[in-house]
Order: sequence, then C-alpha cells, then structure tokens
Amino acid sequence: MDKLIVTGQRRLQGEVIISGAKNAAVAIIPAAVMANDISVIENLPCIEDVSSLCHTINKIGAKSEFLDRHTLQIDGRNVKNICATYEEVKKIRASYYLLGALLGRYKKAEVALPGGCNFGTRPIDLHLKGFRALGAEVYVENGIVKAYADKLVGTSIYMDQVSVGATINIMLAACLAEGKTVIENAAKEPHVVDTANFLNFMGANIKGAGTDIIRITGVEKLHGARYTIIPDQIEAGTYMIAAAVTGGNVLVKNIIPKHMDSLAAKLIEMDVTIEEMDDAIRVIADKPLKCVNIKTMSYPGFPTDLQPQMAALLSVCKGTNIITENVWENRFQYIDELRRLGAQIEVDGRVAVIQGVDCLTGAQVMATDLRAGAAMIIAALAAKGETTIGDVKYIDRGYEDVEKKFAALGADMKRVTL
Ligand code: EPZ
Repeated sequence: MDKLIVTGQRRLQGEVIISGAKNAAVAIIPAAVMANDISVIENLPCIEDVSSLCHTINKIGAKSEFLDRHTLQIDGRNVKNICATYEEVKKIRASYYLLGALLGRYKKAEVALPGGCNFGTRPIDLHLKGFRALGAEVYVENGIVKAYADKLVGTSIYMDQVSVGATINIMLAACLAEGKTVIENAAKEPHVVDTANFLNFMGANIKGAGTDIIRITGVEKLHGARYTIIPDQIEAGTYMIAAAVTGGNVLVKNIIPKHMDSLAAKLIEMDVTIEEMDDAIRVIADKPLKCVNIKTMSYPGFPTDLQPQMAALLSVCKGTNIITENVWENRFQYIDELRRLGAQIEVDGRVAVIQGVDCLTGAQVMATDLRAGAAMIIAALAAKGETTIGDVKYIDRGYEDVEKKFAALGADMKRVTL
C-alpha cells in the first residue's frame, strides 16, 4: 500500500516529458492480437494498466515481451483462447477491446462483463449493439459476454451516444468484416485516431477517424506492424494544471499541442500564459487566476478525464467557479477528499459549484480513482503543509513515474511503501 507524501506550495519549474497515451495503449495492445504475426509498439507508457493488459493477452496465448521499458513486442501467432475471465477484466476494464479484436479475427469471443466503477455505471450496450449490427449473435451468460458469428458483414451503425469504447470496439471487429461499415456519430478522441492509424499500419482500411463518420472497408487479414503511440493528452493536461496551481513556469514536452486546445483555452481565460511550440507547451502562471466555468464534453470539448484536476485548481481560484460533468453520471466522488483539504464545493447532480479559497491546508486523503488521484496531487501541491495521499495504486494505473516527474519539477513529493 503505497502513499504519496506531498509538502505543498512549491513553485514548479523546469521541463517534463510526457509518456505515451494510456487510452491509446489499452486499445492498440488488443488490436495487435488481431494479426497472426508480430507487432512492435513503441512509446508505451510504463504504467499498471499496460502491465495488466499484457498479462491478459498472454493468458489467451499471445506472447508479449518488453524489448525495453517503453517498447513491447506482441506475437499473435499462438492465440488459442478466445476467453478473458472476470479476474482479468476486473484488473483492466479495457480488456473488453478483446471482444472486438477476437470477434474480428476468430468470429468468436468471450469476455467477462465489466462491472461499474467508481464514477457510476459503465454500460457497454453500444458495443454489443454494434457487434449485433455486424451480424454477430451476442448474449451474456454467467457474467460473460459471448459473441459468435459465421461471418461479419459491414453495415451502417449510428451511435446513440458518443462513446470512445464502442467506437473503437466496433472499428476493431469491422476491420475484418466483409464489405463496408460506416460508424456515424463516432467518438473523435485522439486515441480513436491512434488506434485507427495502427490498424491501418496493420493493413486495415479505415477512413475518417477523428471525424463524426468513420468508414471501414473490411480486409481479409491483418499483418504485424511497428507503431509509435501518441503522447498522453491527459497526463500532459495534468502537468499543465499543476504548473498553473503552483504559479509555476513549466515546459510540457513531447505532446501534440492541438490535443490540448480545450484546456489551453480555459487556462488562458484564467490569465495563465500558454506558449505553444511544435511539440511542447510552456505554461507560465504569474498572475492571479480568474474564475471560470467548465463543461465536460467528448473531444474536442473539455475532457472529463481532466475534470477532477481542474476542480482542484479552481478550489484556489477566488470567486465562483462552476463545473458541469456531461459525460459521466457520478464523477464528483472525490469532492469529499478535496473538502478535507479545505476546498469549498457544493455538488448538485452533475454540477459542482466551487468557491475558490485563499489557501488549502494539507491533510490525509485518498485517491478514489485514477483522475481523482491526480486531483489530490494538484490540490496537495497548492496546499499549505503536508498531504498524504493513500491508494496510490489508482494513480499508478495511468501515470508513469509520477513522483519522479513532479520531484524533477521541484515538487516536494515522495512515495512511501508500507
Ligand atoms: C473512455 O472510457 C476512457 N477510457 C475514459 O478514461 C474516459 O473518461 C471516457 O472514454 C470518456 O472520454 C479509455 O479510453 C480506456 P465512453 P469509455 O464509452 O470508452 C456512455 C481514464 O481516466 N456509454 O466514451 O468507457 C457512458 O456511460 C478513463 O483514463 C453508454 O451509455 O467511455 C458514458 O456516459 C476513465 N453505453 C458515455 O457513454 C455504452 O455502451 C461515454 O463513455 C458505452 C458508453
């Protein structure tokens, strides 16, 4: 049980290098299993979710092997099993991408139904609807989603709601369907585009990823590919917010600045200076912060995965700030933890009203999920005195070398293992 101990009110300065995108990695690893061949994935983040997923694909007979800390070789030639058990899916929810990947390759897949999570119910009905539209018989038996098809046939699928997971899962299966599939109202997140790019490197024919309409022409088989994963938009955003909360001056490197537009716009509105370069952004916070309102939306809107970190920043932004969470039904569970640090926040349904205070004060808090954990770090960096953050395992799922990266920027942060 690791804890992070943070002594706050240190101004962050220097440079931080952003790792590969978690949410691209967890889709691309299952995608690699679709080829009867070897793929090499570069710029993988060294995080728990990647380790868990490697374990899961090894269990079905794929062979994953790290060539170095960030480069993974996946050999899909010996996949024997089409089942991912609850034990696996519990560890890493994105194991559900094996449904689309295995259904595409073998026309059969059995993956345990993922449960809810710390921010409410997380249905996968749109994924299953998509598989059915492609011609698969799909049902849930003993907690396992079972999908079988004699053949998959391309079709037109309109998504009732924009869903990253359903878009990717349907795209995976449709790559190896007969004929053309059109996904309308598709998710446009950078990791959807990255997964489509990887599949195209493997020989798929996907057009329009990154727009509302994705067109996939099925191919007979995919081959192995060498691919470099995009930088993590959310890790980058977390460090940008951390720079802002400490009145810092930080160069966030190895990013795609375009992915940061919605956050950069908000920080500029708050009077933070943003200098954009080709593959980096400098964040300079040398003026008092102005309060703002935020509404989370699917990309290119403000990402829900930066909502908790932003709430921590707005906690010390004098005036009234309002956050509206439009993606998840219950993503304010971490607010009680922020209150322990002195934040003044009222929540009503999907709306949080934050009255910025002069100063937070250190306390013992818990990371209730990955991004909630990141929010605790942001708040702890701003707080006077010492904050102890428990349940760091959630943070380790998605942030590589978190305490080392923050310490290199001048934060007083250390990990203790109990
Ligand atoms: C992805 O989850 C991310 N995870 C999440 O990041 C992120 O919060 C979310 O997209 C939204 O951006 C990964 O990419 C691995 P959705 P996903 O399907 O795909 C509803 C993090 O912290 N919905 O886009 O599961 C759903 O309830 C994680 O890194 C259905 O109703 O999210 C939600 O309200 C947490 N039926 C909305 O759509 C479905 O079948 C968006 O969910 C699927 C989703």
